[in-house]
Amino acid sequence: MAAIIGRTSRQALLKAKSSSLASQANFVSFKGKNAKKWVLAVLGSATVGTAGVATALASPVLAEGLELHPPKFPWSHNGMFDALDAASVRRGYQVYKQVCAACHSMEYLCYRNLVGVIMDEDEAKREAEEIMVDDGPDEEGNMFKRPGKLSDRFPAPYANAEAARAANNGALPPDLSYIVNARHGGEDYVFALLLGYCDPPAGITLREGLYYNPYFPGGAIGMAQALYNEIIEYEDGTPATASQCAKDVCTFLRWAAEPEHDTRKQMGLKALMIFGAMLAVSYYIKRHKWTVLKSRKIAFKN
Ligand code: HEC
Repeated sequence: MAAIIGRTSRQALLKAKSSSLASQANFVSFKGKNAKKWVLAVLGSATVGTAGVATALASPVLAEGLELHPPKFPWSHNGMFDALDAASVRRGYQVYKQVCAACHSMEYLCYRNLVGVIMDEDEAKREAEEIMVDDGPDEEGNMFKRPGKLSDRFPAPYANAEAARAANNGALPPDLSYIVNARHGGEDYVFALLLGYCDPPAGITLREGLYYNPYFPGGAIGMAQALYNEIIEYEDGTPATASQCAKDVCTFLRWAAEPEHDTRKQMGLKALMIFGAMLAVSYYIKRHKWTVLKSRKIAFKN
């Protein structure tokens, strides 16, 4: 498609060029004008056509339209100038650790990642020391256990995927490190999913060990409702309602999936400002350099 448009417009431009060259000698350029109109028409219709094809291709073809799509929630980090809410990320880590970590791993996160974002270095060290990690071999060739260090990854609740399935009625709890990037709707979806549990509608019977959640594709999910009011107690005194926990854990999961979130926006802003200023300067310089060419008059003498 693009190749065809490219070729037609190139041909048209070539034609326009040659016809305006032909008419240059006597300063009359009717032919050139016609060709220009023609090029504009072709380019116009090509653009409309491409836009049409692009829209048609972009709208998804859904195999089934029964699941509920999450609404867009007003996250405090949504805007171009908004950073992640650090206190919320910290509370979210607490929710993950005390609730979700019973079933979900976050294998791409180490304790050192918490430093400077969720807690300071000493606190993170103490946090890491709470877990026991397999290490070794020692001098006699035996594996041994030692308290965790900053360089250790978050512990996984199950030894392997089979053990995880066996403990969850055959459903595998996915690793949560990148989950908000791995699902359509990101944190909106996870938030809606965590709070969306309800009774199945009439006519739907669920297999043993499945729960009804309209946001989960298919409706039947292997994860029971995990969040309830007051299920944990926040160390900063925030009332731990189910929706507060869901909001905090989603902010935490966004940070986990995109730790560069704040610096990305900061860099983007700097780039926009610098390139904006450079654009203004280069426009001025362009006008300055081209004044000579734009204002000259060419006269052909016989
Ligand atoms: C009792 C174990 C358990 C707990 C606790 C738990 N989950 Fe799950 N979770 C599961 C299982 C099992 C699945 C897989 C469900 C399936 O595929 O049907 C799952 C799936 C998910 C999914 C993926 C859904 C999808 O679209 O595939 C997300 C997101 C999720 N859990 C988030 C959380 C969060 C956040 C918490 C903590 C607030 C949590 N879970 C607590 C067992 C659990």
